[in-house]
Amino acid sequence: MRPYENEFASATENEELKAAIRERVAAEGRIPFRQFMAIALYHPQHGYYSSPRQRMGRHGDYLTSPEVNPIFGSLVAKQIRQMWQAMGEPQPFTIVEMGAGSGLLARDILAWASRRAPEFFQALEYRLIEVNEWLVENQRRLLRQVDPSLAGVSWLPSLEDTAPESVRGCFLSNELIDSFPVHRVAVRDGQLHELYVEWQEERFMESLGPPSTPLLQEYFDRLGLLPGEGCSAEVNLEALEWMKAVGRALGRGFVLGFDYGYPAEELYAPWRRDGTFLCFHRHNPSTDPYARLGHQDMTSHVDFTSLIQAGREQGLEPLGITSQGRFLAALGIAAGLERQADSELSLEEYYARRRAVTELIDTAGLGRIKVLIQAKGVGQPKLQGLEESEP
Ligand SMILES: C[S@@+](CC[C@H](N)C(=O)[O-])C[C@H]1O[C@@H](n2cnc3c(N)ncnc32)[C@H](O)[C@@H]1O
Repeated sequence: MRPYENEFASATENEELKAAIRERVAAEGRIPFRQFMAIALYHPQHGYYSSPRQRMGRHGDYLTSPEVNPIFGSLVAKQIRQMWQAMGEPQPFTIVEMGAGSGLLARDILAWASRRAPEFFQALEYRLIEVNEWLVENQRRLLRQVDPSLAGVSWLPSLEDTAPESVRGCFLSNELIDSFPVHRVAVRDGQLHELYVEWQEERFMESLGPPSTPLLQEYFDRLGLLPGEGCSAEVNLEALEWMKAVGRALGRGFVLGFDYGYPAEELYAPWRRDGTFLCFHRHNPSTDPYARLGHQDMTSHVDFTSLIQAGREQGLEPLGITSQGRFLAALGIAAGLERQADSELSLEEYYARRRAVTELIDTAGLGRIKVLIQAKGVGQPKLQGLEESEP
């Protein structure tokens, strides 16, 4: 058993959230870490993702690509327009963005389309799915900047509100799956164990026990591997259910997703002793999920091998996987580095743009995010964003 203490924790903890988790632990004796993380992030009133506070961005806890600069959204829009063309320019063409956060990606896609590709813009229906009501209000405000009437834009309460095979277009998400609650597992004497959370001596403690669901062993059996002896790792079962739900909802079109992650062999490699689980508070990473309850993000890397397998079960064929750096390079991000003599950009704006480009493709940062594109019912079109992918 491992006690957790943090000298700054009590000053910034959300006591209501802590009480809610303690209640659940008291009722069950101990709870799988996944349950702890689900409550800490998504408790309807007190969870990290439920309360009204800026999470992403330079003034939040972590930086996502749409927060860096509108160039990101413009290039994603360019890629989605090519998908629309590859499908024969259907009307309507629906983008479903899930986990839309502050709404910047949606705004920048719609703004690019309205300025640069009016026919595509006319065909577009944009649907947003976001659990945080406060963020939904922000999104509404932001999207009115593009079109005050919000024509063609709507919000769905959840993915389950999408009828089977009803979407013709593109499912889009940026850093959504890596925010789902995960089971944490450990291998001891060749056996799979799961991490549980209990309340002892006035603090949260961790202990290992048998897996809370057979799905965990089945997960590794399907992959034909186990994390290394003595290693800890995360299993994101929700990501697989999400992928299948997306596959079911998509009638014809594409899935475009951006997330930190690796293929299973790399994610569960024997040298990765402590998995990839991390917390973020005001851009400071930590491995302590029990500190700053309700005030810090928790995240872990995605297993793309299992995600792709789950998609295939619902007819989603992978067209390719690449890094964000390569994806943006293939779509022409370098053009943002040139400044013509007659440019409308001031020198300050030009330098800000250069810094943003560097940040978005930095292989030690946002540039190493993986981009996975899957397709259903559209054949195997060659997409510009995948042109620079490694063989
Ligand atoms: C890491 S943030 C990324 C936000 C945004 N995509 C960006 O790039 O800035 C994850 C977002 O997904 C939302 N989210 C998490 N689980 C969700 C779910 N099941 N349905 C809808 N939104 C969800 C969170 O509220 C949060 O806004």
